[in-house]
Amino acid sequence: MDYISIEKMKWRSRRSILELDLFFERFINEGKFAKMNEVQLDYYQQLLEFEDGDLLQLFQGKVRLADPLFQTLIDEIAQVDFYKESTMTDVKENKVETQNQRVVKVDFGNGQTAEYPVYKATLGQDVVDFGAFGKSGFWSYDPAFLATAACESKITYIDGDKGQLFYRGYPIEQLAEHSSHLEGAYALLNGELPTKAQKEEFETAIRYHTMVHDQFLSFFKGFRRDSHPMAMLAGAVSAMAAFYPEAFDFKNAEHRKIAIIRLIAKMPTIVAMCYRYGQGLPFMYPRNDLDYSSNFLYMMFATPCEPYVPNPVIAKAFDRILLLHADHEQNASTSTVRLAGSSGTHPFAAIAAGVSCLWGPAHGGANEAVLKMLNEIGDESRVDAFMQGVKDKKYRLMGFGHRVYKNMDPRASIMRKTCYEVLDILGKHDDPLFKLAMKLEKIALEDSYFIEKKLYPNVDFYSGIIQRAIGIPTEMFTAIFALARTVGWLAQWQEMIEDPDLKIGRPRQLYTGYAARDYVAVADRK
Ligand SMILES: CC(C)(COP(=O)(O)OP(=O)(O)OC[C@H]1O[C@@H](n2cnc3c(N)ncnc32)[C@H](O)[C@@H]1OP(=O)(O)O)[C@@H](O)C(=O)NCCC(=O)NCCS
Repeated sequence: MDYISIEKMKWRSRRSILELDLFFERFINEGKFAKMNEVQLDYYQQLLEFEDGDLLQLFQGKVRLADPLFQTLIDEIAQVDFYKESTMTDVKENKVETQNQRVVKVDFGNGQTAEYPVYKATLGQDVVDFGAFGKSGFWSYDPAFLATAACESKITYIDGDKGQLFYRGYPIEQLAEHSSHLEGAYALLNGELPTKAQKEEFETAIRYHTMVHDQFLSFFKGFRRDSHPMAMLAGAVSAMAAFYPEAFDFKNAEHRKIAIIRLIAKMPTIVAMCYRYGQGLPFMYPRNDLDYSSNFLYMMFATPCEPYVPNPVIAKAFDRILLLHADHEQNASTSTVRLAGSSGTHPFAAIAAGVSCLWGPAHGGANEAVLKMLNEIGDESRVDAFMQGVKDKKYRLMGFGHRVYKNMDPRASIMRKTCYEVLDILGKHDDPLFKLAMKLEKIALEDSYFIEKKLYPNVDFYSGIIQRAIGIPTEMFTAIFALARTVGWLAQWQEMIEDPDLKIGRPRQLYTGYAARDYVAVADRK
């Protein structure tokens, strides 16, 4: 059997969701595969065509095959210890090191105990590897992943209490001051800041992939003009896979690189198209003489009728918004991209899943909610009454508070400064809406209710105000967040795919529904 067939088999094993596929993988990894003769390999191939349910029954010994040779193979695979790779001694080289063999002991209260290895983090909390926990007869239960690390990652680190955010170890404040979104993107994707030559090569690759297929213009015509940009964006990103029909092999590093370049390059074009389509404005082709952010502003605001020169201060502020939103470790949309991508789906489809998740008001919709809130308050004279409503828990102060940052969102401090710069340059300090926003900010920073609850303005509060000042309509805010986060999604997706231990994500559940019961004919139902 040739190498490709073996790889296909491995992949077939990885793709399915049942535990039995892990039997296959262990079997292959133990090298038993190499020792098989032609007849056994033929059986093995046949086995992979079985339905998952049938295979499970075979491995559990509930069903036996008539052919004794075939049955021997099944018995051999079933003997492989399913959990073996999760034990401490088997930790792969690329995995975090165990901390002097530290273990956590669990007493199950029924005479049974088990030990689980501890892995040391470079920064932040260490983790206990509960991969083999299921062997105890229990699943661990942690809805919303409040205490569960779903992956090992070297990309981004957040310390909510200290207000720290690092991309590949670089503090976000330093990147915001010295770097650009694309330079940050390179670091997130490749682990290091680029050399001069690498930077030029990366930026050139992005620059020359910004156009979308001309047929894509017609694709947009299927949407209603008043569609939400995020609905269009999720559809358009997913549809991009259809415009590159050549086979995509996610295990091929070159294929991955091309997909990453295409997505980062075309995302501004598509996001701008979502806006222009909604407005009934002609699509503007990208311009290769402009930098990433200036080009986006051009595609958003230029018309074919007159020259458009992007303001460099505004473009820099916008670039900073992109950089600050580029990654935020394992948040909901990034976890969605990882989970979708773990099945080996096309990266455009995985990113489209991230776009859909980001749309929610508890995630990327927050900066949109800030502007809605400001519009609802409407006038400075109503601020006090509004704040009382917040304290009475009638509603929340949008753009304040954060699940992770409990002191200060480091991105918010940078955005605050940028926000004031943008309002200055545009002469908008006296705009009633911005005056209102600044009044809210002042009260929230001084009022004991907000101080005690550690409710500080988050990055969305200021990025919403900046975008509004630049002229970006509120309903586009989340799409711009998606444009920025595409980089992080791709870096995390790439890291996951390159992990030799990649397996399809498959959480467990606590089932509290009915136990088995008999079907009742419709005439007999009460
Ligand atoms: C981001 C957010 C979901 C984090 O929530 P969380 O960490 O789960 O915090 P909780 O919902 O447990 O809230 C803790 C307390 O602060 C209060 N609180 C949290 N955010 C608040 C807000 N924005 N306005 C008013 N009160 C708020 C809660 O009512 C709660 O009060 P209690 O202890 O008296 O019950 C929350 O702060 C929020 O809804 N913010 C507004 C939306 C937003 O800006 N999201 C963008 C995040 S980047």
